[in-house]
Order: sequence, then C-alpha cells, then structure tokens
Amino acid sequence: MLSIAIIGTGNVAEHLFNAFLQPQKVRVVQVVGRNKGRFTKFSSEATTDDFTQIGDADIYIIAVADDAIAEIAQFLSQKNGLVVHTSGSTNMNTIQNENRGVFYPLQTFTEGKPVNFDSIPICIEAQHDSSLKLLHNLASLISKKVHEIDSQKRKKLHLAAVFANNFTNHLYGIGEAICQEIGVSFDLLRPLILETAEKVQTLSPRDAQTGPARRGDAKSMENHLNLLKNKKQIELYTLLSEAIKSTYEEKL
Ligand SMILES: NC(=O)c1ccc[n+]([C@@H]2O[C@H](COP(=O)([O-])OP(=O)(O)OC[C@H]3O[C@@H](n4cnc5c(N)ncnc54)[C@H](OP(=O)(O)O)[C@@H]3O)[C@@H](O)[C@H]2O)c1
Repeated sequence: MLSIAIIGTGNVAEHLFNAFLQPQKVRVVQVVGRNKGRFTKFSSEATTDDFTQIGDADIYIIAVADDAIAEIAQFLSQKNGLVVHTSGSTNMNTIQNENRGVFYPLQTFTEGKPVNFDSIPICIEAQHDSSLKLLHNLASLISKKVHEIDSQKRKKLHLAAVFANNFTNHLYGIGEAICQEIGVSFDLLRPLILETAEKVQTLSPRDAQTGPARRGDAKSMENHLNLLKNKKQIELYTLLSEAIKSTYEEKL
C-alpha cells in the first residue's frame, strides 16, 4: 500500500485526491493546506493547516501554485519519502530534496468538473530510477497514459498546452462576448467548438484549419476588422490571421 500526502487544497489536489480514492493500492494519509475552509472537500482522516506537522508518507505531492512550490518544499526537506510537484512549467530541481520528482497530469482541472483520469497523460520525472519506477506504479493506478518526460521537454509541452488550451479558451471568451453584444446565445457556437476539438483527434490541426485567413478571403477579413471596436480584439484578429495566412502561403 502506497501512502500519499497531498500538500495544497486547490483544483489539482482535489482531483488527485478523488482519483486516489478508487485504487486499493494507494491511500491518501494526509492533506495539508493553508486554507482550512477547503478541508471539507477532502474526506481524508488527517488534515492540517500547519506545514510543520506533515507526517510520514511514501510520496508527498505538492499541488500548490507554481510560485509557492520552492517555499512549500522546504517543509519537506527532512523527509525520507519521494517529494514531487504537479507543475508543467516548473523545474524538478525547484524541490531541494535529494529524492525528488514530478507528477504532472496534462489536463485542465476546474472545480466541480469531474474528469476521468484513465485517459489523462501523466508526465513523470524523478531524480532516481527507483523513484521513477515508484511514480510509474502510482500513475498507472489511475491512468493508462504514463510518460517519462524530463523538465526541459515538460516545459515545452506545457507551452504547447497553453497555446492549445488556454489561448483557445480565451478566444472562446471573445466569441462569447460578441454573441452577448448581439443578444445571441453562446450555445450557437458550442457545436462548432466541439467539432473542431473532435476533428483534431484524427487530423493534424494544419489539415483541419478553415476560415477566411486560410482561404485568403481578404474582403471578409476586412469586413470583420471593421466590425471590431476593441483594440485588443483587432490586434488579435490581425495577428492570428497573419499567422494562419503565412502557414498556408505556399499553398494559396
Ligand atoms: N489547474 C490545472 O488545470 C492544472 C493542470 C496541471 C497542473 N497544474 C499544476 O498544479 C499545481 C496546482 O494548481 P491548481 O490548479 O490546483 O491551483 P489552485 O486551484 O489555484 O490551488 C493552488 C493551491 O496552492 C495553495 N497556495 C498558493 N500559494 C501558497 C503559499 N504561498 N503557501 C501555501 N499554499 C499556497 C492555495 O492555497 P489557497 O487556497 O489558500 O490560496 C491552493 O491550495 C500548480 O503547480 C499547477 O501548475 C494545474
């Protein structure tokens, strides 16, 4: 039986906690966080807001804001267990322990939106081979997609995820704002968003691209720009259209 202590009580902490409830070979023995109000989300028998009271565990999972990882890891510097963080963009060496690693689930986690860990890639890294094996065992209990990825590659992967996920979501937001402006429900765009996301499950995004910039429809793009008043949106439209155009230039 693997014993786990989760440090942090945010989105990732909660989703991991719930995922670890299922497998019999693992038990979350403690949840540690500065926000006592969040403890109700964790049915763990042991919770504390005192970081000096972290007990013994085989693996300590630090799931706090990226900028707080180094500070929190200091409370674990004397522990014998393996200390990992869950960040895509943070170097493994941010953790000072000799026995350190990374357990990065490549998914977007939001409060109140359950996810199925089965298909979520878990990117692992560890200082020692034995610890990498341990992380592999742990990740395999909740996911079928475990990848060994070092800090350099993981940071780039995280960058790719920001483009593919965070930036597209921001663009959904602009779409929603424009719908609101004309009193039309965002529901009208939802099937389109879904179709694009589904298409790239089998196609390369390069082959799936459509729209005025892809076709080189200058008039339509000019019309769109004339409809926009928001400076940031005009800049984004222009920049993205140019980026799309240049990708397909040789084909036009
Ligand atoms: N969300 C995602 O989609 C996602 C996906 C993969 C990996 N990650 C990574 O997982 C980690 C946690 O992300 P999250 O989404 O769970 O963040 P979150 O929901 O914002 O939760 C952050 C947690 O860190 C705690 N915290 C922040 N600063 C702290 C400090 N100085 N001392 C002690 N605790 C502190 C917060 O406590 P308070 O509640 O008191 O503020 C909260 O418990 C990050 O490294 C992130 O990069 C996130």
